[in-house]
Amino acid sequence: MAIPADLLTNAKPIDPALPAHREWLSKLQGNILNGHGRDHTINLFVRLPADADSARTLLKALAPMVTSALRQEAERHDFKANGLPGRLFCNLLLTAHGLRALGVNADRLAKFTDLTVEGKTTLKATFLSGMAEDAVSDLADPDPAGWLFGGPGNPVDLLVLLGDDDVGELGRRGRDVKDRLEAADCEIAQVVRGSALRTDTGEGIEHFGYVDGRSQPLFLTSDFTGLAEDGSIDPATTQEAGGGGLNNWNPFASLGLVLKSDPLVDDDAAFGSLFVFRKLEQNVRGFTIEEQRLADSLGLKERDRERAGAMAVGRFRDGTPLVISEFDGASPPKENDFNYGVDVNAENRPAGRRCPLQAHIRKTNPRGDIRRRFGLPDDDAERSRRIVRRGIPFGSRNRHPNAFQALDDLPSDGVGLLFMCFQASIRHQFAFMQNSWVNANDFVTNGVGIDPVIGQGGSDPHRWQAAYGVDGAVVTHGFGGFVTMQGGDYFFAPSIPFLLNP
Ligand code: HEM
Repeated sequence: MAIPADLLTNAKPIDPALPAHREWLSKLQGNILNGHGRDHTINLFVRLPADADSARTLLKALAPMVTSALRQEAERHDFKANGLPGRLFCNLLLTAHGLRALGVNADRLAKFTDLTVEGKTTLKATFLSGMAEDAVSDLADPDPAGWLFGGPGNPVDLLVLLGDDDVGELGRRGRDVKDRLEAADCEIAQVVRGSALRTDTGEGIEHFGYVDGRSQPLFLTSDFTGLAEDGSIDPATTQEAGGGGLNNWNPFASLGLVLKSDPLVDDDAAFGSLFVFRKLEQNVRGFTIEEQRLADSLGLKERDRERAGAMAVGRFRDGTPLVISEFDGASPPKENDFNYGVDVNAENRPAGRRCPLQAHIRKTNPRGDIRRRFGLPDDDAERSRRIVRRGIPFGSRNRHPNAFQALDDLPSDGVGLLFMCFQASIRHQFAFMQNSWVNANDFVTNGVGIDPVIGQGGSDPHRWQAAYGVDGAVVTHGFGGFVTMQGGDYFFAPSIPFLLNP
């Protein structure tokens, strides 16, 4: 069946059950349109054999393990209807270094060239040069010479991402794959394990203790309830996960936000996606002490103290967005139907009286602040920067982040987030977000400082106010430096036809 010419600019969520979508979904890797949802992962960072023929033979042999978007959807359906757990999940992701090792020709590689001019410092970030090349200038990263993988002298060609809920089964399958890779003369540059952290009610959280993975661009009909009869979003539509209407924030995205035609094959039904992997270590003890110091600086007492950390993140630990509530415990707590239009000054410019302008989620998704700051007609440009996050925590700790714990129980290293995201353009999306929003002192307006959670490169002093929702005294208090980049790279998730016949 012919692929609709406007597939990547679709105006309505995609129904994967429609026959028109079967072919391209069967050729697309899973985890892109929807998270694979497995609680445990093994990530093998691999250097392919020097000889391109051997490298191609190996990739071809691994390709049948890959979970297609179609199979992922069928498994999701089986799980919902009959409680059947999905099989071992697998993605195969290649760096540009890896494509060269496979002997992909220059014409094909040239199709990945990113000519857009982006960012405050004219970003160079591109899939073709890899993350390490421009990491210091683009992202203010630590010197890649010290990275665990992906830096000079330790390049990566292939990432084999395996996921399963059964940690024993995952370990066995991971060992089999590692043996196969080594038998085929690959070098293993690094093995990194991911493990979801969950609250008692099953919510995914990150190591600082905050609900994570909530706000995402959504692509499929199964992500929504109450769609109109013709499949479009109407005032009665809500988000499937966590409920909540779509009046103040519409998470829908066209496929073009995350997919691009696969330049590696001549096949109209073959799509891929660009992928960022960053191993980000979290100093939980340092962050927690800083939350308390900020609460002290602001004179916050009792129930109000919880707001200090929420001001850095933009949501409370239970997910309650700070811009809609002074305290945690809102219902639904993971509300996503909000924007920052309620937090503006008399000129309708972003104010930061409810949620500081530097808060992590306001920096990374300004939800209309750019339109309001610059008087733009719509949010299209801002929304085109969105990324599809697929991260999972790493590292183990003595006590669960949500349990009561003494300061000594809190890790200062060895734990963190395996940050991962898919997008159609690394330069336009992830790199721009980190460079020109997160790391920018003057975003969304002068003197805001960098993102206190993940900002890098030095910050103007952060300004915070104790009063909520009204103008109040402002306290200056630097907050940051608790997340450290340890290694990573830019990858492409090729279509399955390429993997089967590289
Ligand atoms: C949202 C934590 C790294 C981009 C969130 C949320 C938390 C969080 C708690 C709120 C929950 C949610 O809306 O899903 C962290 C931690 C990080 C980290 C602890 C590092 C250790 C990053 C990076 C980026 C990023 C590197 C991109 C440069 C986002 C985006 C959102 C988000 C786009 C959604 C904002 C929204 O739509 O409202 N993060 N994050 N995060 N984060 Fe991060």
